[in-house]
Amino acid sequence: MIETIQTTPFEGQKPGTSGLRKKTRVFMQPHYLECFVQALFDAIGGAAGKVFVIGGDGRFYNDTAVQIILRMAAAQGAKSAIVGQGGLLSTPAASHLIRLNKTDGGIILSASHNPGGIDEDFGIKFNTPNGGPAPETVTEAMFAATKTISHYKTLKTPDIDLGTIGSTQLAEMSVQIVDPVADYAALMESLFDFPAMRARFADGFTMRFDAMNAVTGPYARDILETRLGAAKGSVTHGTPLPDFGGMHPDPNPTWAHELMAEMMGGAAPDFGAASDGDGDRNMVVGRGVYVSPSDSLAVLAANAHLAPGYSAGLKGIARSMPTSAAADRVAQAMGVEHFETPTGWKFFGNLLDAGRCTICGEESFGTGSDHVREKDGLWAVLLWLNILAVRGQSVAEILTEHWARYGRNYYSRHDFEAIETARADAMMSALRVKLPTLPGTEFAGMTIRAADDFAYTDPVDGSVSKNQGVRIIFTDDSRIVYRLSGTGTEGATLRVYLERYLPGPGDLHLDPQAALAPIITAAHALAGIDQYTGRTRPNVIT
Ligand code: G1P
Ligand code: ZN
Repeated sequence: MIETIQTTPFEGQKPGTSGLRKKTRVFMQPHYLECFVQALFDAIGGAAGKVFVIGGDGRFYNDTAVQIILRMAAAQGAKSAIVGQGGLLSTPAASHLIRLNKTDGGIILSASHNPGGIDEDFGIKFNTPNGGPAPETVTEAMFAATKTISHYKTLKTPDIDLGTIGSTQLAEMSVQIVDPVADYAALMESLFDFPAMRARFADGFTMRFDAMNAVTGPYARDILETRLGAAKGSVTHGTPLPDFGGMHPDPNPTWAHELMAEMMGGAAPDFGAASDGDGDRNMVVGRGVYVSPSDSLAVLAANAHLAPGYSAGLKGIARSMPTSAAADRVAQAMGVEHFETPTGWKFFGNLLDAGRCTICGEESFGTGSDHVREKDGLWAVLLWLNILAVRGQSVAEILTEHWARYGRNYYSRHDFEAIETARADAMMSALRVKLPTLPGTEFAGMTIRAADDFAYTDPVDGSVSKNQGVRIIFTDDSRIVYRLSGTGTEGATLRVYLERYLPGPGDLHLDPQAALAPIITAAHALAGIDQYTGRTRPNVIT
């Protein structure tokens, strides 16, 4: 039976870099999720007759939210829903299912790499029929609808069983509960040289994949251990838990410290990797060597042709603006286009759809290709494994050869988390005011060539996105970028991105923090980070 529930708008239901993210308890307030879901359906012209993919990363409230959304979709007259068993779907697997089944989009429940649990974070985002995150026009329409909402429609029905694969019915809507892994694993088999990778594992190649108690556990076990023959136990923390077992499922050296310790220790396996809450991010580590995400993007792009799915070469390479320019050098050498987009995967969608680029990536541990419209953690791990299997070299050897050929873009990101929003805003405003006066001035012995606030004109649809981050570029192409995070749920997070290019052949193995020291000094002085934020040091360095 369809029910219409009267309600009033909630403040602040504005989707950020990647959907609406709030503390879990905020989402648990009566009508809160419902209001956003109704606004979402209204913003896309209703749900009647449509087919949606629904699933999430298994964090606390995932299952309840799936039931709420299913009831609401049915009440709006949706035709059917494809749901991962247990309500689970990694973000890239959801993107694939949206495309594979030619659906009208999908609703993904996740706060990505943020911790989960009743006192941690929850999130929801909508992906469009191309499988990618909704563009700003759509998320703005959702936000607008949240401000005027007066009622929502749902069903008065008990929960359905999400645990059994097969079809069931919710009023007039059919619900298909599917294996969350099978179609995704088949896609991976179509892209990569599984026999070559299997042979390498059979030959004694060892790896560790830390799933951080999040959604990729079942995917990694099936693909790495069962299909590729990696030793049992290669996947650790492989069972998705509602609170991620207390882990912070953010694959970076700070949060994936268990993996880092193992990879830097005496008994390290050949290859290490980790993924985040919803499976779209990845960190790659070789024995004794950390691979920065910007370098990983460049190495993957330079070697992708070694995988069957990319043997025809790349159409182009795209990176987000704060990501290092290492990938640009690869594109230039290949003679293909390269693109610099604002932060957030949604900006890659048009380029991928238009066939202008094949591989894209962000410095924030995100890499992916045109196989889906999200970044894809396991995809990156498998492409690395494919490259390692074909080249027969170690991660360290591959990196060294890469830098020797292209030079090295030393790179680091310094995050200042949970600072007071007003102070962070004041710092950014003061910096923006100063921009026109900066070119020609000197900081820490370096001269500024250009300073601006990054704006992007989408080459496909001409849409313009402004205020995407303050860039300070020095005469030797070294660079500082300042941005405030759009995904945090507490106060503000200042991200400072630091880059310095050294052409080689010398100086290719410096410690990045040491190589970047003058730029770090300049970054603090220029923006007055210490005075504004009260912090002299970042709390996360990647
Ligand atoms: C962060 C990353 C960004 C990524 C996004 C979603 O956004 O920096 O690259 O696309 O998460 O995973 P931010 O918090 O910086 O807005
Ligand atoms: Zn994520």
